[in-house]
Order: sequence, then structure tokens, then C-alpha cells
Amino acid sequence: MPDREKVALDGVPETLLWNLYQRAAEAGRPDAVLRDPKAVELVDALDYPFADRFGAGRLGQWQALRARRFDQEVRRFLDEHPDGQVVALGEGLETQFWRVDNGRVRWLTVELPETAELRARLLPDDPPRRRTVACSALEEEWTRHADPANGLLLSAQGLLMYFEPDQVHRLLAWCAERFPGATMIFDGVPPWFSRRTLEGRMTTAQGYQAPPMPWAVDAAEKARIRALDGVAELRDLRPPRGRGPLYGALFPLLNRLRPIRELGVTGLPIMAVRFAAPAHA
Ligand SMILES: C[S@@+](CC[C@H](N)C(=O)[O-])C[C@H]1O[C@@H](n2cnc3c(N)ncnc32)[C@H](O)[C@@H]1O
Repeated sequence: MPDREKVALDGVPETLLWNLYQRAAEAGRPDAVLRDPKAVELVDALDYPFADRFGAGRLGQWQALRARRFDQEVRRFLDEHPDGQVVALGEGLETQFWRVDNGRVRWLTVELPETAELRARLLPDDPPRRRTVACSALEEEWTRHADPANGLLLSAQGLLMYFEPDQVHRLLAWCAERFPGATMIFDGVPPWFSRRTLEGRMTTAQGYQAPPMPWAVDAAEKARIRALDGVAELRDLRPPRGRGPLYGALFPLLNRLRPIRELGVTGLPIMAVRFAAPAHA
């Protein structure tokens, strides 16, 4: 067996390993709600104490349904813009490209240098269709590589909650100005969840502590986003139906009710923002 890749990440970058592990745990089941062989391959290829740090991967279905909802939006975008570009901010070791590839999409990963380096070792770029920019999503550098000519979809899965509210608002306003007409899909955490992370109380039984998530989403926060310059529309994206009595029956039923959905117990809030299209002369 070839040597496995050692990974040493901490803070927010380490959270990508939690996501990958949960997704792979689900994808490894015969009745998985998400097909993701690449995630399973990656977990097998990494030298990292996944189970000691995160437990048995019991939130696999939860995480996989979140990923599936993002996939659904990317596929919808690619149906309309088969040669479009997807810009995945804070992509970590997401393997979404391999789940949705239509053979034509161009894919830009934007990651912090330390994570970009890990991704380069495990999932090397394959230009011209798949490339990485190693910089913060909050820096202007990546926008020079984004190309809206054939349609542009921005995605920030599991990223914005780690930013301060001002940073999220500035990023959205900034994208609205640079990419009029584009859509951005992202998720967030509800206020109770954010508070627990800020108080250091979001821990696994194994002692892993989730990093602080200062940005929380509730109805008031959605109203603030809708009021940002250049934001034309904010839509909630409901998590898809899964398997079993909870994910297959109870949660989908409860998720029809917005106030319950906003509690974030039945799935984290996932949203799509559409930026106003340029005014034609
Ligand atoms: C919870 S992980 C999500 C990874 C991936 N999107 C997923 O859903 O599996 C958070 C990711 O955000 C990245 N990240 C944190 N701060 C960032 C920043 N300022 N700019 C770009 N990426 C960032 C981390 O390196 C990490 O990969």
C-alpha cells in the first residue's frame, strides 16, 4: 500500500476534514444519498486520525444532503450554461467537480495557501478547465481569474460562517458589483449554533472543538442581505429528502415551515443570492 499523505491542519482549515470525512462515511454506504467515490478515495489516502478526532461519522447523511443541495444548484446552472464557470470559495477537499462535471464546465477553486497546497497534492489542477487560486476569498486576487463570459456561479459551501458579519456583507456587495447577474450559493448557521461555537461549546465526544462561527443567519440577517446594494433576490434552498424516518420523513415535513427551518435543527440554512443584472442601454 502506498504511503498515506500526512495532514496537519488546525483552526478553520481543519474543518474541511470533518466535511470530507462525513461525506465519505455516507458515500461508503450501499444506500448512500450521495455518490462520491472520490471522497472515499481521499479519506483512504490521508494519514489523519479521523475517527479519533471526529467520532464514527454519524453526521454523514446530514453533510451529504447539504452537499447534494449544492450539487443540485450547480447542475441547474450547468444546464443553462454548459460552458460556464463555477468559482468555489473555500473549497477545501470538496469533490463536487467530480460529482457534477459535464465535460465542459470550468472550475476555479479559491483557497487559503495552506489548504491550496494540500489540495494541489491530492487533487492537482487540470488546466484549462480546473484551476486553483491560493488566496483568501476576502482578497481581490481571485476575481481576476473569474470569467463571467459564459455564465458564472459563485459557491461558498461551509465558509461564510467563519467570517465576521461585516466581512460577509462586504464580500456579497463586492461580488454584486463585479459580477452583475451572477448567482452565489452559500450556507450559514443559525444564531444558537453560532453562539455555541463562540462559547467553545460545540465539541465532539472525542474532544474536537469546532472553531468560532461569528456569522449567523436568521430572518433579520436575511433582510440585511436583501438590502445590500446590487442584491436582487435571496432564496432559501431546502435540503433534499434523505433516507430513514428522520431525513426521509420528519425533517422534509418540518422543513416546509420556514420558522422551523430557520432553527437550523433539520439542516443548516442554504441560500442563493442573485445579483442584479446590468442595466441595458
Ligand atoms: C468547513 S471547510 C469547507 C470546505 C468545503 N467547502 C466543504 O464544504 O467541504 C472551510 C474551508 O474554508 C477555507 N477557508 C477559511 N477561510 C478562508 C478564506 N478567508 N478564504 C478562502 N478559504 C477559506 C478553509 O481552508 C476550509 O477549506
